[in-house]
Amino acid sequence: MKILVINGSPKRDKSDVMHITRAFLEGMQQAGEQQIQVIHAVEQNVKYCTGCFSCMNNGGHCIHDDDMRGILEDILQSDLLLFSFPLYCYGMPAPLKAIIDRVLPLSKMTMEKVGDRYQHVGQGDYSRLKYLMICGCGFPNSQQNFEPAVSQFKLLFPHDHTIVTVPESPMFNVPQADVVTVPRLARVREAGLQYAQSGRIDDELLAEICSPMIPEAQYAAIVNGEA
Ligand SMILES: Cc1cc2nc3c(=O)[nH]c(=O)nc-3n(C[C@H](O)[C@H](O)[C@H](O)COP(=O)(O)O)c2cc1C
Repeated sequence: MKILVINGSPKRDKSDVMHITRAFLEGMQQAGEQQIQVIHAVEQNVKYCTGCFSCMNNGGHCIHDDDMRGILEDILQSDLLLFSFPLYCYGMPAPLKAIIDRVLPLSKMTMEKVGDRYQHVGQGDYSRLKYLMICGCGFPNSQQNFEPAVSQFKLLFPHDHTIVTVPESPMFNVPQADVVTVPRLARVREAGLQYAQSGRIDDELLAEICSPMIPEAQYAAIVNGEA
């Protein structure tokens, strides 16, 4: 499978969330060889969308000549788009959002009603593409935290999406937390293997991966220097 990983963390390879993403990809590789390309959003020269809509009206040609041209080609050649990012202000970090906005050339201005909402018709057939979101965050709670990012991802990529949200993710960069992060990453590898084999992750396993590694109050006390 051709996998394009778009890392939204400005910390690049030092990202907390990339620990989870790398474990997931290792699990996928246990099922067979995968072609993996990682791009760090923060390193890309991607100008902001100006909202001119010329791309949607002239066959997908954006007015900007920057790195987004190559990224769009990479997207079109992929089987799986894996968005790895930290939760920033309940959403995605700005460099990743700039890339997502610039995916507009893949759609036409024409809109169609699908179910109870409207969406733009694609410039091509992208039905073969699969979408994976791996998002970590700094608070221990998932509720009242991940919902906006999860809703946005589902609306952006309504078909064949899988969403992994992991609270307390700064722990993945703390060696003293190995006692809980090492077993958690082992479970993430299992999830990657399952996903590569069946295109989905078992509900129970997904729920475990998306749960706090240590009790919320204990995590908050450690962060606050009280434990
Ligand atoms: C600007 C900014 C906004 C953040 N917003 C949230 C937030 O809304 N909810 C949350 O739980 N954590 C938030 N965090 C914490 C990060 O999600 C957390 O530190 C994460 O582990 C960073 O991952 P990374 O190392 O992969 O970049 C925020 C951090 C920053 C710098």
